[in-house]
Parts: sequence; C-alpha cells; structure tokens
Amino acid sequence: MNVLIIGAGGREYSIGLALTKDENVEKIYFAPGNGATDTLGENLKISDFSALADFVEANGIELTIVGPEAPLVSGIVDVFKERGLTIFGPTAQAAQLEGSKIFMKNFLARHNVPTAKYIETDSLQDAYDFIMTLDTPIVVKADGLCAGKGVIIAQSHDEAKKAAGEMLSGNAFGAAGTSIVVEEFLDGYELSVFAICDGKDYVVLPAAQDHKRLLNNDEGPNTGGMGAYAPTPLVNDEIYRKLNERVIEPTLKGMEAEGMPFTGVLFIGVMVVKGEPIILEYNVRFGDPECEELMPLLKSPASELFYKAATGDLKNAKIEFHDKYAVGVVMASKDYPYKSTPPAEIIVDDIYHEEVKENAHISYAGVTRGEDGKLYATGGRVLVCVGVGDSIKEAQRRAYMLVGQVHFAGKQCRTDIAYQAL
Ligand code: AMP
Ligand code: GLY
Repeated sequence: MNVLIIGAGGREYSIGLALTKDENVEKIYFAPGNGATDTLGENLKISDFSALADFVEANGIELTIVGPEAPLVSGIVDVFKERGLTIFGPTAQAAQLEGSKIFMKNFLARHNVPTAKYIETDSLQDAYDFIMTLDTPIVVKADGLCAGKGVIIAQSHDEAKKAAGEMLSGNAFGAAGTSIVVEEFLDGYELSVFAICDGKDYVVLPAAQDHKRLLNNDEGPNTGGMGAYAPTPLVNDEIYRKLNERVIEPTLKGMEAEGMPFTGVLFIGVMVVKGEPIILEYNVRFGDPECEELMPLLKSPASELFYKAATGDLKNAKIEFHDKYAVGVVMASKDYPYKSTPPAEIIVDDIYHEEVKENAHISYAGVTRGEDGKLYATGGRVLVCVGVGDSIKEAQRRAYMLVGQVHFAGKQCRTDIAYQAL
C-alpha cells in the first residue's frame, strides 16, 4: 500500500523508517516532511486538508498517519473520514483530550480515572481560593495548546497566584490561558505509556521514559524531550494491569459512550505515586522522542498496526514486539530551547563498527536539505541517535557510539539518557 505521513519531525521520520522495512508498503509520502524524509519517500508541499485528501485519492494512498496534535485538533481526520479515506488519528472532538486540559480533567473525573485533585476556572478569585487549600508546590496549567509550555510548577502560593493571574489576563499564553486548571503536585516518577486504539480495542506499547530537562541529572529548562528509552524497568505487570483496568478501558468506554470513540495514539502521561499510576495528562499522538525508540521495537509490520487501528480491526491483529531495548539521544542546536540557531552543516562519519551499523540509526528531525544537497541543522531538536540492544546498557552504548560520529557546529546533547534505569 501507499502511505501518507503528516508531520515534519523525528517522530514522523521514525514512522516512515519503520514503514520502509514493511513489505506491505510500496510508497511513502510526507506532508510536509523534513530535509531527510525525502530519502524515505516523497515530500509534499500541501497543507490544506481538502487538497491533501484530493492527493490521497488521486495517488491511491490507502492509509494516512497523522503525527502531530495540531492537525488533529484542527480536524484533519474529520475531513478525511467525510471523504471515506482511511486515516489513523482521533477526530477533532476526540482530540480535545489533548486540545483542552479542562475537557481532559473533567472527562477523567466523570469516568473515575485517577488524576491529581484540581479545579478548572476562569475566575481569579476561585483560583486564589483553591490555591490556598493546597500544599506547595502547586501546578497551574493553561487550558489550550501551548506547545508544551503551558504548565507552571509554582514553589509558593504567591508564585501560583501570579501564574494564575498572568494566564487568566491573557498575558502569558493568549487565548489558550484564559481558562486554567490548578492542581495538586504529584510526587513520584513519570512514565510515557502509549495505547494504540481503534475506538474499542487497544494495544499497549512498551512503556517509555522521556527526559524533559535540557541538562544532565534533569537540570535546566524544560524541553520537548532530550532523549528517551523503552521499555522501562520501572513498570511491572501490576502497573500495566492498573493502567488497563483503571485508565485505558474506562477512557475508551467513556469516549464511545459520549459519542466520540477514540481512534489513534492515546499517550498517557503517568505519575507513579507509591505504586499507583495517576494520570497527569493525555496527548492524542506519539511522544517525540519516544516514538523514535518505540518504532524499532515493533516486530509486526507497522502498516498492520496502524491500518487495523484506523479501520477498527485491532482485535484481529497480533502485534508483537522485539524482546529488546531502545535508547534515543536527542542532538539539539546550540541555542535550543531558547532561540533558533543559524544553520549548521551536518556531517555523519562513515560508520565502520558493524555493531553500530546494525544496531543504531539516526531519526532526523530539524533538518533542511540545502541547494548543495547537503543536510543542515535548522531546527531546535535536530536529530535522534537511536541504539537498540539486549539490555538498556547495550542500547545506550550503541546510541552514544553513533552520537560520536555525528557532527554539526554547536551540537548539544545529554550524556546520561536512560540513567534512571541503570
Ligand atoms: P503536562 O503538559 O500536563 O504533561 O505537564 C508537563 C510536565 O509538568 C509533566 O510532564 C510533569 O513533569 C509536570 N507536571 C504536570 N502536572 C503535574 C502534577 N500535577 N504534579 C507534578 N508534576 C506535574
Ligand atoms: N516527549 C513528550 C512529548 O512529545 O510531548
């Protein structure tokens, strides 16, 4: 089959890479793709949803996979479904699980899914009153999409009030912040759990752990993620069972009962507090960089997983994973995450180590192909070096051996990815 992937990041590159290894897949298109996805398929310069649907019809594309949240929240799935096209992702209504934190929190409360104690409000007085009932730290979140920046962890009551005030006045995040969620701080360890859902049934992928801070030892500012690994040994069967029974199943049943069955990736941000999984948030797409580690662990053809999910047929799929570990190290530009950096040429050495050649690869993200045919680092997170192995340690070593072969001016990366597991 021919497949279209919507998006431009390392996440979409890694899905494309998995599909190139899949015998069922003939041609892959990316819209818009990045400077390296053109080595896996063809980049399209179409962004309008109807125009994309026209292209899909004209080119016999049987499956479209949506990477990022923005087109989902804007209704790309609705446009494709109206045209009778097969697309993997939630409708705009179902994508509110990520698009609105208030929708998500109220949904969790309606369906008794464990989450932090909270209020949602657009009243500063109500926010103040609730803040005074909580112990510090206190978490204040803008309702809408803020590219991962809409969460403030306030260390004092005054700081929490200030954050609430700035959001509600529209000064901090514009319209996305004019309603807020204030919630208790959960102290535990964080997991990224992904369930591929077809509306009724689901497949849970190996649990991952992301590293959101810029610097080693989880110091420095928050980023989109500086590296991840999977599966994490911090999850056991008991936690998976609780996640299935208390979180994923009530969520799928609840979404169906409310008339918006959920198809796509349910990305569950979990805090494990004293052995109990508590939900921090939902996203409706793969994490980036988590996707870059999960795709290489998939043993079944990627097209089968996504096509069966998109067509409501997961119960007839037997999805298998390799009994291995993957570690991904993000290489970012000099000024990430503060500002953009001038383009820098990327040079990857010829790889002589068989071990690295066979067990490590790059997923390209913020890159552009120059007129000279060379690849340039042009985004914040430039690429991810992914190592696969029989242990986390082996996967980590391979990922870092590859990091050592990749060069661009100003490159930065953490040197401790997967440390929690070692
Ligand atoms: P979110 O966008 O809701 O995932 O929040 C971003 C990050 O803030 C999460 O990945 C957590 O590290 C942190 N966070 C969010 N909510 C809480 C909470 N209630 N308690 C502790 N940390 C939180
Ligand atoms: N890596 C976390 C995210 O994609 O939101």
